[in-house]
Amino acid sequence: MNPSANNRIAFIGGGNMARSIIGGLISSGWHAKNIFASDPSKVQRDLLAQQFSIAIYENNEKCVSQADIVVLSVKPQVLKQAVESIRAALVEHNPLIISIAAGIRASDIMQWIGQEAPFVRAMPNTPALVNCGVAGLLANAHASSAHKQAAAQVMQAVGAVIWVDNESDMDTVTGISGSGPAYFFKLMEIMITAAESHGLSRAAARTLVLQTALGAAKLAADSAHSPAELRRQVTSPGGTTEAALLTMEQHGIDEAITLGVNAAIEKSAELAKTLGAM
Ligand SMILES: NC(=O)c1ccc[n+]([C@@H]2O[C@H](COP(=O)([O-])OP(=O)(O)OC[C@H]3O[C@@H](n4cnc5c(N)ncnc54)[C@H](OP(=O)(O)O)[C@@H]3O)[C@@H](O)[C@H]2O)c1
Repeated sequence: MNPSANNRIAFIGGGNMARSIIGGLISSGWHAKNIFASDPSKVQRDLLAQQFSIAIYENNEKCVSQADIVVLSVKPQVLKQAVESIRAALVEHNPLIISIAAGIRASDIMQWIGQEAPFVRAMPNTPALVNCGVAGLLANAHASSAHKQAAAQVMQAVGAVIWVDNESDMDTVTGISGSGPAYFFKLMEIMITAAESHGLSRAAARTLVLQTALGAAKLAADSAHSPAELRRQVTSPGGTTEAALLTMEQHGIDEAITLGVNAAIEKSAELAKTLGAM
């Protein structure tokens, strides 16, 4: 297998995340005739049909039997059942399997298939829905470098990717970028409330805060400087930014965020044990 828009790719579960990735693949030149999706829900199948000219199935096995790459894009709670429904086709055709289900580890999926297979676990995040996601990827020992390139190509359709070496790194990815959008939303909420408490309208506060978040992220992404250096550049001695940051530090912002991230990473490891044992 080589990374190519000629690979045939099947999505098991045609919900929000699958639709985003399919949209990203088509925009990046993947041939719609090489994309298939299956979903038990007529509503989801109709949504897929309205959006894309791809083959859509009610039956998972029919979808998988034609594919070089199979993306498991169902909720974690139904993943075991979905894998069992395609086990025979996976064993017969040996495609590259990519799972985007939060928390489910490679070893659990291999156990459900009943044998080892080329596999990449991906942990995307919600900004993938607007083509601005980031995913952590973890390959098993059966995935060749060509499989890994093909998996990266699929996930890059909706954002950036990074590779990690083990499942505990995936817990870290979950605590940083998986849950991360919510940390930034929380900061936005707090700043919008502060602006309103000083008399600005909600609409004005929202525009100021969201555009500042977008601008800061773009500046940090485009700059050769680290976020710490960029912060120093906007913090004049005796100025307003310094007054804000000193007050935030005195009230424990560093500790609150570090402990919060640690709690998410620990929870991810705990949930993986529970989900894998289902
Ligand atoms: N959304 C995100 O931002 C995000 C971020 C990181 C990871 N993920 C992971 O991405 C996966 C998909 O999330 P999502 O938000 O796209 O979920 P979703 O919108 O609920 O899509 C899942 C789809 O799978 C269908 N389905 C249920 N059982 C199935 C089966 N046995 N075979 C085939 N399809 C089946 C569901 O149908 P019904 O609706 O009829 O049940 C639904 O249409 C999840 O595992 C989630 O952990 C999502």
